[in-house]
Amino acid sequence: MDFHSIPDVFKIKQLIHQKKYLVGGALKDWNGPTSEVFSTISTTPDYAPTLLGSIPLLEKEQAMEALEAASIAYNKGQGLWPTMKVADRISCMEKFVTQMKTKRTEVVKYLMWEIGKNLKDSEKEFDRTVDYIYDTIDDYKQLDRTSAKFHKHSGVYAHIRRGPLGVVLCLGPYNYPLNETFALLIPALIMGNTTIFKPAKLGVLLLTPLMEAFQNSFPKGVVNILFGRGRTLASPIMETGKIDVLALIGHSNSANALQNTHPKKNRLRIVLGLEAKNPAIVLPDADLDLAVKECITGTLSFNGQRCTALKILYIHESIFEAFRDKFCTEVDALNFGNPWEEGAMLTPLPEPNKPDYIQGLIDDAISKGAKVLNRKGGQRTENYIYPSVIYPVDKSMNVYHEEQFGPVIPIMTFSDIQKPLDDMAESNYGQQVSVFGKDTKTLAPLIDSLVNLVCRVNLNSSCQRGPDVFPFTGRKDSAFSTLSVRDALRSFSIRTFVAAKDNPYNSEILKEMLEEKQSNFISTDYLL
Ligand code: G3H
Repeated sequence: MDFHSIPDVFKIKQLIHQKKYLVGGALKDWNGPTSEVFSTISTTPDYAPTLLGSIPLLEKEQAMEALEAASIAYNKGQGLWPTMKVADRISCMEKFVTQMKTKRTEVVKYLMWEIGKNLKDSEKEFDRTVDYIYDTIDDYKQLDRTSAKFHKHSGVYAHIRRGPLGVVLCLGPYNYPLNETFALLIPALIMGNTTIFKPAKLGVLLLTPLMEAFQNSFPKGVVNILFGRGRTLASPIMETGKIDVLALIGHSNSANALQNTHPKKNRLRIVLGLEAKNPAIVLPDADLDLAVKECITGTLSFNGQRCTALKILYIHESIFEAFRDKFCTEVDALNFGNPWEEGAMLTPLPEPNKPDYIQGLIDDAISKGAKVLNRKGGQRTENYIYPSVIYPVDKSMNVYHEEQFGPVIPIMTFSDIQKPLDDMAESNYGQQVSVFGKDTKTLAPLIDSLVNLVCRVNLNSSCQRGPDVFPFTGRKDSAFSTLSVRDALRSFSIRTFVAAKDNPYNSEILKEMLEEKQSNFISTDYLL
């Protein structure tokens, strides 16, 4: 591919040397070490990664500065932001999203270059995030409306609301650097917490166009943005014991390591979206065309780099051959291309070492008796390895256990449904499952068991997080806390209330506070 074949709007005409980080309301200049940002997409006849720019490699001192700024902004619960009226916090969020919408083209362009997500999915990620912010605002208003009252029980009045938890450390993943990160950051903020946010190792420059909007939309210290390595920045922050919530979408190893460094275990709340190994179970009476179509989407959208991706397929042995033939034909018909190319479902892998890792899984499985079933499986270019359908897979193979997060599709067959059920029960993961079939006498008891092994059973469709209003969570090493628009508001807050015995003395005080609108917490006004 040469430079001229890239549509003008997506060309990298200028490098972004991001020199600033946001702390205490100021976009500060960084003159220390930086890290170059490359795209694995090549624009030259001989393969070469494309330089996109650079980001600061901040150090412990800046991490401490951000923690200090977030703590001052929270100010032991007395800060402007945690005590602010609901309507005023919403205005700040609206100001932010209004500016964010103007940056769509730029953010979408960097989603494509930095993580190789195709144009359609990059646009979807941006639009879905904007919708998420508006839905969060609406849900927060609803929460406020339902809280704007007094309860009375056993002679005690209670005015119950949800309050913030404190300082939130927010760490997002590379595969959804905008959506998943904002799905943590936005609810944390709107509930009155202050935040320190560090983007993942990839998908960082796409935040540059939003830095000013963060700076000018929220009071100082409410949003602090750091760039650099997790070990240098996040670990020292956690070690202080001053973080109230660890919000992380990523791997359970990182989540566990970070939790372990926090000295005040009961102070720390955790909101985690972690890895998964979602299976598809294809029953003998499944509509095969539908099952194949959904398994293609489930295993290979964004090259399988989704926590919700289907990562292992269980096919009933009576239909295995028919499924295999259709599935392999469909896999081999998928188009590989650069993210902006029409119909490119398979796109360059953003991690330079990913093709080797996937190759390692394939080699390991082959050495233990599996075969690559599809013709194009395992074909390599500098930035890609074509999806391999691997069969028969068993528990001795790494691809059975590991979350591959890339284009390789392990298949197992079964004759007794107890086999996938036992495997799921034994697994460390428990996010979602897809079941393909029709006979309700089989499906009903199966669903009754599956809902107790995972947190979403997808009937005749692939696994996915959306729509974002539905609960997104998992069992075991797959998640902690629930994220949906509504649940996230709860995950980042705690019920707190004012209680008063029902007597004329207290009633007079409460009445005066309400009439004169003296408290932002005790209030029966609500937003429409
Ligand atoms: O990486 C995990 C994402 O939450 C998946 O979301 O199912 O909408 O792609 P998605």
